[in-house]
Amino acid sequence: MGVTVLLTGGAGYIGSHACKALAAAGFEPVAFDNLSRGHADAVRWGPLVKGSVGDAEAVADALTRYDILAVMHFAAKAYVGESVTSPWSYYGNNVCGIIGLLEGCKRAGVFTFVFSSSCAVYGVPPRLPITEDTLPEPVNPYGRTKLMGEQMLLDYASAGATYNADCRYVALRYFNVAGADPDGELGERHDPETHLVPLALLAANGRHPALEIFGTDYDTPDGTCVRDYIHVSDLARAHVLALQHLLDGGPSTTLNLGSGRGYSVREVVDAVARVTGRTPPVVDRPRRAGDPPMLVADPAKAREVLGFVTERSELDRMVADAAPWFAADQTDARSA
Ligand code: UFG
Repeated sequence: MGVTVLLTGGAGYIGSHACKALAAAGFEPVAFDNLSRGHADAVRWGPLVKGSVGDAEAVADALTRYDILAVMHFAAKAYVGESVTSPWSYYGNNVCGIIGLLEGCKRAGVFTFVFSSSCAVYGVPPRLPITEDTLPEPVNPYGRTKLMGEQMLLDYASAGATYNADCRYVALRYFNVAGADPDGELGERHDPETHLVPLALLAANGRHPALEIFGTDYDTPDGTCVRDYIHVSDLARAHVLALQHLLDGGPSTTLNLGSGRGYSVREVVDAVARVTGRTPPVVDRPRRAGDPPMLVADPAKAREVLGFVTERSELDRMVADAAPWFAADQTDARSA
C-alpha cells in the first residue's frame, strides 16, 4: 500500500491532474470535492468523497476513513475578475474553507500539507522575475484570500509544537496554469470559462465569437499583460515532489511554480494561430479590474528545494496539449 493523500478539489482541473501524477508515483489519491466546479468523471485514480472543505467533521471523517497521511488543498474559487465583483464568495470559500479544513485535519491528526497558493499574492511586484521573498501585496480579493491561507498555515504549523504535532507544509505559488494532460485523459473544463488559453482556442475554432483582449495600454512590450504560463502536468509533478519533500522530513517552505518566461496576451494569440492554423478573432477592450501588468516567476527556489524544472511549459507545446480538448467534437465531453 502506498501513502494515501487527500486532495481537496481533486475533481477540478489541477486537482485531477495531481491525482493522476500521484498515482503514477505510487501514492493513493482520495479526491474530496463538493463538485460545485469539479467533475466526478475526472476522478479516475482513486475514490471520490463528496464534501465541502469548510465542513470540519466531513474532512476529519474522510481523513480517518481512508487513513490519510497528507492533504493537498486545491479546493478554492480562483477567478481574479470574479473575486473583484463577488469578494464575499472568495472570503467565504477560500478563507472559511481553510479554517474548516485545518480544524478537520487537527481532529484527525493529519499535519502534512501542500497548499495551492498563487502568484496573485504578489500584486504588482516591484521587480521581475519575482522571488519568494518579495513582499506580498495582493491587489485583488483572490490574492488576499490566498495570502491569508498561507498565513493560517504558518500559524497552524507553529502552533503544532504546542501539542506535539510535527506540522509542516509547502505553499506553492502557481503562476498561470495552462495545457492539458498529454495523454488526453484530462483537460480544462471551467464553467464559465474565463482563462486566456481556452478562450483563444475556442475563438480560433469558432466556438467563441472573439477573444477580448483586456488592456492594450500596459507598460509592456506590446501593451498587453504578460504572464508566466506553466503546464498543468508540470505543476502536478511539482506537487508530488513537494509531498515527497515533506515526507522525507523537509521543512515548511513557500515556492514559486512558473517557467521563468513571460508571454504577452498577443503572444498567446499568436501561438494559438501557429498551433491550430487558425487566427483567433480578437477585440481590444479596456483593462480588466485586478490585473497586474506583468507576472514572471523566478523558479530558482523550486529547483533548489525540490529539484523541479518544467518540461512541457514551452508555450506552443502547452497550447498544442490543450487544443484537442477545445476542439469541436469535445462539446459533449466538456459539458459532462
Ligand atoms: N485575458 C484577456 N482576455 C480574456 C481572458 C484573459 O485578455 O478573455 C488576459 C487577462 O487580462 C490576463 C491574461 O489574459 O492579462 C491571463 O488571464 P487569465 O484569466 O487566463 O488568468 P489570470 O491571470 O486572471 O488568473 C490566473 C488564475 C489565477 C491566478 C493567476 C496568476 O486564474 O488563479 O492566473 O496570474 F492567480
